[in-house]
Amino acid sequence: MMNAARHHDRDAPPDDGAIAHGQGSFFGRRKGHKLRAHQADLIEHLLPHLALDIASPAPASLTELFDDKVEDVRLEIGFGGGEHLVAEARAFANIGFIGCEPYVNGMAKILTQIEAHNIGNIRLFAGDAAELLAWAPSQSMRRIDLIHPDPWPKRRHWKRRFVQDATVAAMARVLKGGGEFRFVSDIDDYCAWTLWHLMRAPDFTWLAERASDWQAPWPDYTMTRYGAKAEREGRRATYLRFRRAG
Ligand SMILES: C[S@@+](CC[C@H](N)C(=O)[O-])C[C@H]1O[C@@H](n2cnc3c(N)ncnc32)[C@H](O)[C@@H]1O
Repeated sequence: MMNAARHHDRDAPPDDGAIAHGQGSFFGRRKGHKLRAHQADLIEHLLPHLALDIASPAPASLTELFDDKVEDVRLEIGFGGGEHLVAEARAFANIGFIGCEPYVNGMAKILTQIEAHNIGNIRLFAGDAAELLAWAPSQSMRRIDLIHPDPWPKRRHWKRRFVQDATVAAMARVLKGGGEFRFVSDIDDYCAWTLWHLMRAPDFTWLAERASDWQAPWPDYTMTRYGAKAEREGRRATYLRFRRAG
């Protein structure tokens, strides 16, 4: 069960030069620790080459965003330190990955990894994933991952959770038929919330057939920083997979 007391820090109002705005679904911190000189250099010089410009129209196919040919495109929302995104991008060179993370320190971390491993199949968006979904063409992605999203445990903050009817509909529009939305959280209440929203959405089917399907990660899943923290604190994560009809 969720331990709300342990999550008070994640439910606190934004700080540290934070901004919170109520028009989209992003509420939280964008700024954090001061960047090291090399990280600041990567933000200034490498990020512009990899960042999506959603002020311009999207290409007809998101595969065009990548220099080398990719067969499909996947999105990870709120990649944090980028552990999962980097591992997936390195494991699947034939897939193009879009990572979305408004938190500048997360952006700096993933740029460090991209440079260190010379990763060519990641593109980045430093903003609200709801805006990115609105920009992306219909049926343009094979998979969307939302891993340990901010839980917003207090009832009055539930409207800030990323999973809402509107974002579920946006993901249904952007996913290809047969594509998947994958969700991981150690907050039982958010898992139930997500199941409820996805089960009542006409376009998605929950893929679990037995308890082990949601109690254990899928093969080759890479644990994230928040996942490791949850395990250390005795909370087990739930792994939900939903297939887009069509
Ligand atoms: C609890 S952290 C988890 C980070 C990472 N996925 C992990 O498991 O370690 C949630 C992340 O989602 C990001 N986030 C929150 N709202 C978002 C939104 N609307 N679009 C994209 N990212 C968002 C936050 O900046 C934060 O880094």
